[in-house]
Amino acid sequence: MKKFLSLTLAMALMIFFTACGSSAQNSENKTSAQSTSSAPNTENKTTAESADAAKKSLVVFFSRTGEEYRVGNITKGNTHIVADFIAENVGAKTFEIKPVNPYPDNYNECTELAKREQQEKARPSIANKIDNFDDYDVIYLGYPNWWSDMPMIIYTFLESYNFNGKTIIPFCTSSSEYFIGKEEIQQYAKGATVLDGLGIQGKRCQDDPASVKRDVDNWLKKING
Ligand SMILES: Cc1cc2nc3c(=O)[nH]c(=O)nc-3n(C[C@H](O)[C@H](O)[C@H](O)COP(=O)(O)O)c2cc1C
Repeated sequence: MKKFLSLTLAMALMIFFTACGSSAQNSENKTSAQSTSSAPNTENKTTAESADAAKKSLVVFFSRTGEEYRVGNITKGNTHIVADFIAENVGAKTFEIKPVNPYPDNYNECTELAKREQQEKARPSIANKIDNFDDYDVIYLGYPNWWSDMPMIIYTFLESYNFNGKTIIPFCTSSSEYFIGKEEIQQYAKGATVLDGLGIQGKRCQDDPASVKRDVDNWLKKING
C-alpha cells in the first residue's frame, strides 16, 4: 500500500512538472514571437525617424525694409515674413543676409542702385556669416524679385559657400505671384539639388499674412509631406 501511494505521488508530480514545462515553453514562444514581430517595426521606424531628424534645415533670406511701392513704409520685409512662416513650419532657424552697405530706404533710389548693380554684375559684400554651414542639408533660400532677377547679393551668397550635396528650396516675393531664380541658383550653387520654388506677391505679405501662411503651409506639405 505504501509503495502504491509513493508511486501515485511520483506520477502526480511528473504530470504537474510536465504541464508547467510546456506552459513555460509556450509563454517563451509567445514572447519571442511577439518580439520578432514588433522589434523590426520599431527599429525601422526609429531609423526612418532619425534619418528625417538628421536632415537639418536652415531658412536663409534677403529682404528690405523702408519705402515699399504702393504700400508705404514697412518695418518687416515681405520675404522676411515668408521666411518666418517657413521656419515656423519646418522648425528651422533663420539667417538674414545683411549687406555691408545697406540699401536705401527710398524706393526709387533703391531701384536705381539695384539696376546699376545688375548691369555691372556686382557682388555686394555680405556683413554676416553662417556658422557651421556644413551641418545643414537643406537650405530654404528667399529673396525679392529685383528687375526680373535675384538681387546681386544673392549671387554673392551662392558664391560664398559650398553647396555640393545640399538641397536648395527657393522662394521669392515680387509685384505679382510668380517665382524666378531656379535656373540661376542651379548654375551658381554647384552640386546642389534645386527644387521648384514658391512665388508670393509681396504686397499680400503686408495686407493678408494669414493667406500667405496658408500658401506656405500647403507648399511645404507638397514638398515634405
Ligand atoms: C530694386 C527693386 C526692383 C524690383 N523689381 C521688380 C521686378 O522686376 N518685378 C517685380 O515683380 N517686382 C519688383 N520689385 C518689387 C519687389 O520684388 C517686391 O516688392 C518684393 O516683395 C520686395 O520684397 P522685400 O520686402 O522682401 O524686399 C522690385 C523692388 C525693388 C526694391
